Amino acid sequence: MDISLQQVEYRYQANSPFERLAIQDVSIDIPSGMYLAIIGHTGSGKSTLLQHLNAILKPTEGQVVIGDRVITNAKKQKNLKDVRKRVGIVFQFPEHQLFEETVEKDICFGPMNFGVSEEEAKERARRAIKQVGLSEEILHKSPFELSGGQMRRVAIAGVLAMEPEVIVLDEPTAGLDPRGRKEIMEMFYRLHKERNLSTVLVTHSMEDASLYADQIVIMHQGKVYKKGNPREIFHTPEGLIDLGLDVPEVVRFQQKLEKAFQTKLSRTCITLDELSDEIAQLFKGGMPK
Ligand SMILES: Nc1ncnc2c1ncn2[C@@H]1O[C@H](COP(=O)(O)OP(=O)(O)OP(=O)(O)O)[C@@H](O)[C@H]1O
Ligand SMILES: [Mg+2]
Repeated sequence: MDISLQQVEYRYQANSPFERLAIQDVSIDIPSGMYLAIIGHTGSGKSTLLQHLNAILKPTEGQVVIGDRVITNAKKQKNLKDVRKRVGIVFQFPEHQLFEETVEKDICFGPMNFGVSEEEAKERARRAIKQVGLSEEILHKSPFELSGGQMRRVAIAGVLAMEPEVIVLDEPTAGLDPRGRKEIMEMFYRLHKERNLSTVLVTHSMEDASLYADQIVIMHQGKVYKKGNPREIFHTPEGLIDLGLDVPEVVRFQQKLEKAFQTKLSRTCITLDELSDEIAQLFKGGMPK
């Protein structure tokens, strides 16, 4: 399912003394099957933007096209259930929303709310719990007996069990240890590839964005500052560094190397393999002068 944000503006508490402009003039296309990463400082509007992807928020200006639905401020929106079913959002710290007595009931809640039978929901819960790398026995435990990392995985399983076509992730690895982070990121990448799932990831990690995403959007003060594929984004990293955003280590290394040897590599490297190939080329005839 394609999603397109067209000149979207959102004001919290519009027309009140507390009005706050959170995002403006945001245009982003997310064709079916794309992996998009969104990066920006705290308060730059990332979570506000994400909530437009399944019509939790309606734009105060502009429009959001989700499949064949057009969401605007003007129109009264009916039956958004279908949109919510097709676009699953994993919110920041999703484990805070676990509430049922057992993990199984928690995972089944979403699908059953969308009309899936209890039997089918339980089957989906079994599949989802395995996808997130946990064993079936956990289904009968209370979510509150689990470790923080396990609770996070259970919350993610709850979204996967809805079998969405688009999955939206708001900092899904915040607070996890490095190993847990890598496991979760690779799981989402696998799902993205295997099921051709559109994936929208909000992250502070430029490394993750450059590793997994087809396209990157940099948000700054509520606006799109830059968008493009990782190579385009990191071709001129100076602007990002000026904004105080981190750039991947590979990109920083290339920058320093080019400065030290007063040379330009033939391309912008975004993986270690690419960088080592380029360095081998550079040193082929001995040390550069
Ligand atoms: N419920 C709200 N009411 C009023 N203003 C809000 C509300 N939620 C967010 N804002 C404001 O909107 C702007 C964008 O916030 P948003 O939460 O989208 O940023 P973010 O990029 O997700 O930040 P973070 O990285 O901290 O999660 C900020 O100025 C914020 O203070
Ligand atoms: Mg946020």
